[in-house]
Parts: sequence; C-alpha cells; structure tokens
Amino acid sequence: MAYNGTRAFLEALANRGELLTIREPVSTHLEIAAIAEMEMKSPSGGKALLFERPILPGGKPSKFPVAVNLMGSEARMRMALCDKTPDEVARQMAFLLKAKPPRSFAEAWELLKNGMGALNACPIPSLGGAPCQETIVQGESLSAFNLNDLPVLTCWPQDGGPFVTLPTVHTRDPDTKTRNIGMYRMQVFDGTTTGMHWQLHKVGARHGKRYYERGEKMPVAVCLGGDPLYAFAATAPMPDGMDEILLAGYLRQRPVSMVRCVSQDLEVPADSDFVIEGFVDPAEQLRDEGPFGDHTGFYTPVDKYPAFHVTAITHRSHAVYPATVVGKPPMEDFYLGTASVRIFLPVFQMNFPEIVDIALPAEGVFHNLVFVSIKKQYPYQAFKIMNGLWGMGQMMFSKYIVVVDAHVDVHNTSDVLFHLCANTDPQRDTIYTKAPCDSLDHAPTLPNIGSHAGIDATTKLPGEGYHRHWPEEVAMPHDITAKARDILAKARALK
Ligand SMILES: Cc1cc2nc3c(=O)[nH]c(=O)nc-3n(C[C@H](O)[C@H](O)[C@H](O)COP(=O)(O)O)c2cc1C
Repeated sequence: MAYNGTRAFLEALANRGELLTIREPVSTHLEIAAIAEMEMKSPSGGKALLFERPILPGGKPSKFPVAVNLMGSEARMRMALCDKTPDEVARQMAFLLKAKPPRSFAEAWELLKNGMGALNACPIPSLGGAPCQETIVQGESLSAFNLNDLPVLTCWPQDGGPFVTLPTVHTRDPDTKTRNIGMYRMQVFDGTTTGMHWQLHKVGARHGKRYYERGEKMPVAVCLGGDPLYAFAATAPMPDGMDEILLAGYLRQRPVSMVRCVSQDLEVPADSDFVIEGFVDPAEQLRDEGPFGDHTGFYTPVDKYPAFHVTAITHRSHAVYPATVVGKPPMEDFYLGTASVRIFLPVFQMNFPEIVDIALPAEGVFHNLVFVSIKKQYPYQAFKIMNGLWGMGQMMFSKYIVVVDAHVDVHNTSDVLFHLCANTDPQRDTIYTKAPCDSLDHAPTLPNIGSHAGIDATTKLPGEGYHRHWPEEVAMPHDITAKARDILAKARALK
C-alpha cells in the first residue's frame, strides 16, 4: 500500500507496533538527535520515533511534530516498500529487465502483471487541491513564518547550526528538462537561506554548473515527507538522467501525483508534508557550510557550497517534519543503503552476469567497503569486476572492493574476512587505482581524489600462475550435520 503523507505512514507504523511516541517536550538542539541515535543503535534499528512536542531554540514549542527513524529497520523498510522485501522488489525488476515475448498464457499473465506495475512509474497531475499547498506562505509573509519556525535539528555539538537532514531536492536539467531528485543536506543560515550541500559528483551539482554556464538562476524545490519512498528514491543510485519519481511510482505501486510549485517552475509530489521553494543563484559567491557530524562518524569540515534562497514555504495543515540523524554506523541510512543495493543488484548482474551477490557492510559507511561474490570462470575475472564496478555511477567511490567465490556469504563479514585472510597473497592479489573519492572522505591527501584498492580473495587458477594444489575447505557431509543437530537437540531437551 502506498502512503499519502507522513501521517499515513505513522499510522501504519503504530498499528504494527513500530512507533514510539515521545510526548515530553524535547529540544531540537541535540536532545532529539541523542534520543534518535540511541534508538537507531538498539537491536535491529529500534522503533520509529514521533516527537509530539519539539522545542525550538529560544524555548518556543514547534507547531509541527518531528518523525525520525521512519525507515531505520528491515521491517519498516519493507513496510515503506508496500510490504515487499528489497529482494522481492529486485526479483520483479530482474523479471522486467529480462522480459522475453511470452510463450504461454501463464507467462503472458506474469508479464502483464509486472508491466502494469511499471505503468505506475509514470507520474500524474494532481487533481483538486494539493495537500502540500493547504497552507502557502510566500513573499512578505515569509518574515512572519519561515525556516526558523520549522523544528530543524541540530544533531551534534560541533555542527555549524541546524540542518535539514531528510530533504528531497528537486532540480531540472536546463538543457534536457529532465528532473533530478537528490538528498543533499541543508544548513539553515537564516529564516530564508540555507546551504545546498550537493557534492561535486552529484547530479544537482551538475545541473547547477549548467545554470552557471547559462547565466541563469536555478529553480529548486525541496520536499519533506509525503510517501517515505520519495526520500528513499532520492538517495538511490539512479543514473544521471533517470527520473527518481519513476522509481518512486514503481516502488509504491501507485503513480505519484504531481503539483506545480507556487513560486518556481517545478513540480513536486502533491502529498508532501512540506515544500520549500526557492532558487540557487550560480553567480553568487559560495558560502561556508558545516561543520556537520556526518555518516562517516566524523565531522566534515567547513567547505564552500551554494546558498539556497527561499521564495515560498507550503505545507499540509497537519504536517509532520521528517528528519534523520547520521553518525557512526549503524544508523537509519544503513537500512536505506542496504535496500538500495538489494534492489539494484539485478542492474549490476545485467552488466556482470557472474556477480552472485553484493554487500556494503555497515562498518564501511556505504562506499568504503564492498564485498562481491562471483561465479569465477576465467583468470583475472575478479579484477574485471573491480574495474567494472569502479566505472558504474556512485560505485566509483568504493574504496575497498573484496571479491570472493560464489559460496561465500557476503552478508557475513566474518565469512568474508576468513576467505580474505586465507585466500590471498597480498602482493599478488591486490590492485590499486587512482579514482575520484567521496567528498566526505577525510583520508585522501587531497579532497575528492585518491586511490582505491581491490582484493581478489577468490580461488586461484593455473591461468593466474598458481600451479600448486588449491586445498578443499573442511566441511561435514549434510547427512552427518543433520544427525549431529538432531542428537544435540535431543540432549538439550533432556537436560
Ligand atoms: C541521509 C542522507 C543524507 C545525504 N546527504 C547528502 C549530502 O548532503 N550531499 C550529497 O551530495 N549527498 C548526500 N547523500 C547521498 C545522496 O543523496 C545520494 O548520493 C544520491 O544518490 C544523490 O543523488 P544524485 O545522484 O541524483 O545527485 C545523502 C544520503 C543520505 C541517505
């Protein structure tokens, strides 16, 4: 089921026992973040949190409640995905990607069902009043109601200020008119100005560059809330030029209803809780942004980013302000990232059919560590996979890629490390390459550029110069294991 707004999702979470409501007044300065971090770090991601009485800096109660950790567990991610696991969604996607002309009624029916699902990807215009525009504040009125009235969180003590942490930022390519939605944090500078933290390699930054070259102001709309899948789609590694709204519509199994902004030439999902409309003027000097306690587990330092100027804020009458907190893993973004990798696995497999599975363990904070298992067929195939992945979109940021054989469980870090230690001769099996780096990575000597390492932990072949006998891994036969399990269970029952 698709959710039309944050309240609809909160209601569903409450019905499934996935929501904890905090009725006590809690400050948006550090306190909400501290509670959220504690809950996110509890087993399996804890519960979603609804703070009913956030207190703004200065002591004023916020008009809007704050929702945090909405998708920060496997169960809640599955709820957002219309009760499908990311693997089920991936199987559907794989079916569409590999679709062939049907040879039977059953195959035709299967194709039709999946094809109908794909039709939901196309957005539709919103008819009647859009919920996200129930209240419209623009022009002079922004002096009486503005960003300072929203419960924007300051998450960590040394943060440069409050940051909008779950914004879906809508921009349009000025040449092709293609829409892009990315999640780029926004530091609140004052009631009508924020930073716009689109990093160098992101699509928003590329759009900005084109507006700069054309000497035009860039319209930007920032949505908060609505179906939680909008936030998920904004973080997904969609190729430049592919519209995230199509992904959201496909995943929520219902077309996204879009409405025109009131002050900018852009369209946004009508069921958003808030829409902050405005522009980036590429001719304007960049401004200091940060520091910010980031998902790397470190503060990212002050850097130069564009300013975003607000021209209107529209919202639902009973809007809920959604936020997340990032920090040392695992936090909510780990569950978002994991779901993305699962859902996009068929796309990787389409390019590299030998890939069995991929995992980005929490400790690697997304791109720092990637485990890939492959059905190895020929010499140096592991190196081909590393080089191929480094060439695919945001996989270019993968600092360490470890390739293992098909039988290794990439979701079991201990299993991967065992094979890494056992199967490698470090000098022979490691390659280094120069590559663009994640802007948040503080380790490279220079920002945005550095090196990556790939480790081939697969079984070595004679064609790779290995002429010794590769030993077999110790393992019990299945029937003996089953019998042993049985005997142990009986002994435990008798105790
Ligand atoms: C919670 C969260 C916050 C993020 N903040 C930023 C950010 O401030 N800047 C950025 O460039 N990417 C950020 N990202 C990653 C981007 O959203 C992600 O790379 C996305 O795919 C970018 O979209 P694009 O390829 O359309 O630019 C964040 C991701 C998450 C989950």
